[in-house]
Amino acid sequence: MKPFRDKRRDSRSQFTKSGAEQTRPRDGRAAARPDAKPGEGHETRDRSEPKAAPRVLSRRDGALPAERLPVILEVTPNADYALLDSGAGQKLEQYGPYRIVRPEGQAIWQKALPAKDWDRVDAIFTGDTDEEGIGRWRFPRTPLGETWPMKHDGIDYLGRFTSFRHVGVFPEQASHWDHMAGLIAAAKRPVKVLNLFGYTGLASLVAARAGAEVTHVDASKKAIGWARENQEIAGLSQKPIRWIVDDAMKFAEREERRGSRYDIVLFDPPAYGRGPKGEVWQLFEDLPDLTDLCRSILTPKPLAVVLTAYSIRASFFAIHALMRDTFAGMGGRVESGELIIREKSAGRALSTSLFSRWVA
Ligand SMILES: C[S@@+](CC[C@H](N)C(=O)[O-])C[C@H]1O[C@@H](n2cnc3c(N)ncnc32)[C@H](O)[C@@H]1O
Repeated sequence: MKPFRDKRRDSRSQFTKSGAEQTRPRDGRAAARPDAKPGEGHETRDRSEPKAAPRVLSRRDGALPAERLPVILEVTPNADYALLDSGAGQKLEQYGPYRIVRPEGQAIWQKALPAKDWDRVDAIFTGDTDEEGIGRWRFPRTPLGETWPMKHDGIDYLGRFTSFRHVGVFPEQASHWDHMAGLIAAAKRPVKVLNLFGYTGLASLVAARAGAEVTHVDASKKAIGWARENQEIAGLSQKPIRWIVDDAMKFAEREERRGSRYDIVLFDPPAYGRGPKGEVWQLFEDLPDLTDLCRSILTPKPLAVVLTAYSIRASFFAIHALMRDTFAGMGGRVESGELIIREKSAGRALSTSLFSRWVA
């Protein structure tokens, strides 16, 4: 069988089976997966769909939004999650009840906690390439199941040992979630949120709990299944969330054509990814179009557009310039910088991603 057109030999496939989910090495999450395949159940032959004609982009008229940068948004240790220590290419984290060790390429410093603290752990990502799923983890104390109960700020969801070293949540995103929940509450009117590349749905759950009507899009059927499960576990089944398996770009294009509009758009794209039909997402090629689309599917009184980017060779200045130019004439402000996690042991900062957000 012919392998997929493989522009995306990056590191991020989270769910190789679905192939749609891309890992982010921002937390050391993954070795290169040149074997990324499209949506679950699809074959490996080339089913990539031709792309829609590229958008004709030109510089927008109007005053540029105000700007604030650099902005460093920080997640500090809390009852749900803590980066306990890091060093020597590893990180030690507390996810709910479990202490977990995973590789962390950025941790070029030395561990601050003694070896006994690093030995007293529940799960270690071994990355054993012969194994799939949970087999890539070692459980030094008691054998653990694939999933375990987790919480974010009172929202219950499932943590999971995936074969891509991820556990189903990117804790640094909590900074965006809190900000978004604040905007939704302060709006005191119905708010529509679009969460593109939504993964396991934490952002969607936070938005729904805050009172928004949410549309969640991800290319991976598996991730959507997990996100739905999270909605139930969180007791938010009655909240209006549309779960959609689709290519983010295609979905946004369709929304533009249909005249569907949103007050808040979140997009957290991988460097490389695939839609369910093998549609290719390449951040450097596609981000300008998608950012432009995000602007054009905003309501007349939008609140915010939040972009996160990781594992790319770029500075936040690049996405800042893109966002500021794209939101010219809209007023508001573009703030850009990094999302970091503050370590508990010695207070060092682990940078996880770049972000840029336009806020009305
Ligand atoms: C790193 S995750 C996003 C994480 C999420 N924002 C969060 O904080 O939990 C990237 C997601 O993008 C999805 N994805 C990759 N390519 C896609 C595409 N072309 N269209 C839609 N989703 C895609 C993957 O399945 C994966 O769930």
